[in-house]
Parts: sequence; structure tokens; C-alpha cells
Amino acid sequence: MILIDGKKIAAGIRREIKKEVAEMLDRDVPAPHLAAVLVGDDPASRTYVNNKEKACREVGMISSVYEHPSTVSEKELLEVIGFLNHDPEIDGFIVQLPLPGHIDAAKVIRHIDPAKDVDGFHPVNTGRMVQGMPAYLPATPYGILQLLDKCGIETEGRHCVMAGRSNIVGTPLSILLSRKTSPGNCTVTLCHSRTSDLKKHTSRADILIAAIGKPRFFTPDMVKNNAVVIDVGVHRVESETSKTGFKLVGDVMFDEVSKKCSYITPVPGGVGPMTIVSLLLNTLKASRKEIYS
Ligand code: GUN
Repeated sequence: MILIDGKKIAAGIRREIKKEVAEMLDRDVPAPHLAAVLVGDDPASRTYVNNKEKACREVGMISSVYEHPSTVSEKELLEVIGFLNHDPEIDGFIVQLPLPGHIDAAKVIRHIDPAKDVDGFHPVNTGRMVQGMPAYLPATPYGILQLLDKCGIETEGRHCVMAGRSNIVGTPLSILLSRKTSPGNCTVTLCHSRTSDLKKHTSRADILIAAIGKPRFFTPDMVKNNAVVIDVGVHRVESETSKTGFKLVGDVMFDEVSKKCSYITPVPGGVGPMTIVSLLLNTLKASRKEIYS
């Protein structure tokens, strides 16, 4: 079994990004600038935005945060998006989700200029991705493609079972892995909460991507011998052995399932570190106008 070290792979990509940013500055080209819109005081959202800011600083990119109280109106938020769309100093921006219930998140996302949508959530970027055109790819699927690529995992002709159909992970990744690309060329089965006999499908997967959002859900009997297992879940569960009383686990019962795998990602330290690095790569592409010239 090979443990996929997402932390190490992400650190390597971050070093390459840092070098590219330094070269831009040497040529008097401004450093890429990522902005984040943060609404309300959800602690998880704040942590995610702080981590994105920190990652930008580490590679020499500029970051800014536009904070608004949870009472902000949809109209005001759309005005903020309009401002960011037109600010030439901002290369790309994200609106941290979830948004408060009185705001239509899909409408807010549609208001983002697709050329600045470094989260890859705008329907124009989704459409471009589906058609194999240059597009910003959502960070987690993009990070998983890079993990498969950097580890030299063969995907062509293999059966991939994608467990989970969210707009952010399962749906885009199922499309990306079925495209005529490398990594890609998989035969993909997309499973979800209404799939009957999930085990029947997952136990036939050469590559299993676990993104259903249930802690330690995937047991060894649900996984084929020598499968590649990519665990997207992150859950904080009580633990008697940890000093804090908590530990992080994924959607997969790691200790038991890893014994059967050819490759597996741990939680933490697998997919997670690749997500922010992918957002940085999208920001670099935005500043170079690589996708929309
Ligand atoms: N909330 C959870 N994941 C994400 C993400 O990737 N982007 C944004 N904007 N919000 C999120």
C-alpha cells in the first residue's frame, strides 16, 4: 500500500508557484491578487478564508478579504461582486460559502465575472469544463487530478466510482475523470444518496472517490482489493487518544481499508492540502489571463 502524501505534493507545487511569482516580480509584473468575500461569522468559513490568505502570503501573492455582516442584503452583496469584477488590481476572487439563507447563493455566483471566478463555480466555467475548453476547475477536483497525476496512477480504461454528487466535488470530478484526457479516460459510475446497493458498485471500483460526507462510512467489504482510494471527507470526531479530545477522520475507515489498497489518501494530509494549492494555481492562471485572454 502506498500512502499518498498530499502535504508533500502540495508543498512541492507551492514552491513552484512561489518561484513563478518571484519571477513575475523580477520582471516588474505585479504579484497575483486573490480576494475573498466573507459574509457572517461562521467559524469554519473564517478559518478557510484565513488559510487561503496565509497560503497567498507564503507564495508572495496579494490577498484581501471583503467582510460583511450576516445581515448584508443580496443587493449589497451583488454590488460588492460588481466592484470586484471591475477592479483591475484583483485577478480573481471567491465568495466563501455557505451564505446566509436570505441570499440566493446561485444568483451571487452567476454575478461573478467568469474570468475572475477562480473557484470555478460559475456556470460558464462549468460549461467550458464539460466541453473540454480551458476553464477554472473547482479546487478539490483539480487537486485530486493533480494527486493522481503526480503519483503516476494510471486512470485510462479503469473503473472509477465517484461516491457523492455535490456541485463542488462529485459532479465535476465525475465529468473530469470521464473526459478524453490524462488523468481521465475512466469509466465512471456516479453514486449518490439514492443509489441502491452502494456496496455493489464501490466493491467493483478500481478507483474509489469517497465524498459522501459521513465519517468512516466506507468499510473494507465495500472496497476492491488493490483499489486506489481517495478520501475527500473531513470530520471532527471525539477521540480518547488525542490530547484535544478530538481527531479528524475521513469518509473511509482508514486503518482497515488501507490494508486492501494499492494507494490511499490519509485524512488529514491527503486531499485537503491540495485544495488551497489548486486555488493558488487558478489565481496564477487568472493573473496571466491563461483561461480568458
Ligand atoms: N465552502 C466550502 N468549500 C468551499 C470552496 O471551495 N469555495 C468556497 N467559496 N466556499 C467553500
